[in-house]
Amino acid sequence: MELTVNLAQRSYPVFIDAQESFPQMLASRLAGRRFALVTNTTLADLYADLIAQWRAETGLQVYTIPDGEQFKTVATWQSVIDALLNNRCDRATVVIAFGGGVVGDIAGFAAACCLRGLDCIQVPTTLLAMVDSSVGGKTGVDHPRGKNLIGAFHQPRIVWIDTRYLTTLPAKEFNAGYAEIFKYGFIGGRDMFDFIEHNHTAILRHDRVIVGEAIRRSVAIKAAVVALDEFETSGQRALLNFGHTFGHALEKCFGFGGLLHGEAIWWGMACAIDLACRTDMISPSAQPLFERARTLLLRPSLPGSVDTSALYDAMFSDKKTMSGALRFVLPTEPGVSVVAASIDPTAVRQTLNAIFG
Ligand SMILES: NC(=O)c1ccc[n+]([C@@H]2O[C@H](COP(=O)([O-])OP(=O)(O)OC[C@H]3O[C@@H](n4cnc5c(N)ncnc54)[C@H](O)[C@@H]3O)[C@@H](O)[C@H]2O)c1
Repeated sequence: MELTVNLAQRSYPVFIDAQESFPQMLASRLAGRRFALVTNTTLADLYADLIAQWRAETGLQVYTIPDGEQFKTVATWQSVIDALLNNRCDRATVVIAFGGGVVGDIAGFAAACCLRGLDCIQVPTTLLAMVDSSVGGKTGVDHPRGKNLIGAFHQPRIVWIDTRYLTTLPAKEFNAGYAEIFKYGFIGGRDMFDFIEHNHTAILRHDRVIVGEAIRRSVAIKAAVVALDEFETSGQRALLNFGHTFGHALEKCFGFGGLLHGEAIWWGMACAIDLACRTDMISPSAQPLFERARTLLLRPSLPGSVDTSALYDAMFSDKKTMSGALRFVLPTEPGVSVVAASIDPTAVRQTLNAIFG
């Protein structure tokens, strides 16, 4: 299956469970190019045979970085650049990011900067990376002051999704990735809202066909949003942050690594639905549908109790806060959300107390 992210001369295909093999695709689309694969230690072990096979078929070089968000740093990014330059990369070298969102963001950012820009192929191996981070061109690393504060927009040349990688993904990571799929149910139209509701159990059962379809729909929704607002300037891309204003603040309160991003987003979505109901954003006729959606939300265990005042304060320091005003992406009807900028702070506090109190 093949989708396209439409960005004029930067358009690119997203392959999902393609018939041909990855080396066959490289040979047909990028003949004569050199390849440098970036992965992490966990995936290098788990997929040693596959990577060896790819290396034998394509001659790619392999560079392995440590595993973990704590290594999403300028130092790791520089080590990737060092490896590329030490191996005499040139403008024809294609960087292949083989991993989850951390590898994808670091390798994508290295590709964006090395020799003023190399082509990059994203090969996502987590559910989150398949439906979110591999598509859209955001690359970067963390700074001690916050996540993803250093980076660049650098669209991949190709995204290659193979759902077989999900068979080795820990359940906790799968559920975190599912948060981003569930999110598309609130912004991607009524059809996606209904799809999630009807297929929730099958997705949690890891039904491969249904998960593949959920990925296809999610990528199509993300691609459409990115095509409208590639550089996050017109506001449409902000819709992708459904549940994220609360979620980012929760991540911040528990520190990097305390809670997975997707786990925080599950809680963030619960808050967004509560706030929308509280502020009458949702019409009375649609409220029962949202009640049902709310019962489907996962509630991953939290590392400790939530200090709702600290959480409220953390929301104001989120980098997406505009001029001190909090912006929330809130649902109005099934599959439709809007960016709301003037929400009563009292209602926000009430939501935090209702969800975490
Ligand atoms: N660029 C974007 O648009 C964007 C969007 C959302 C998130 N992100 C970033 O993505 C990162 C989170 O990504 P993530 O959730 O994929 O986490 P991750 O990259 O840390 O991967 C999670 C864990 O799963 C392991 N793993 C990956 N694939 C596996 C597989 N197939 N089998 C077994 N283990 C596997 C990894 O080694 C890691 O330990 C964050 O840094 C976040 O900022 C970026």
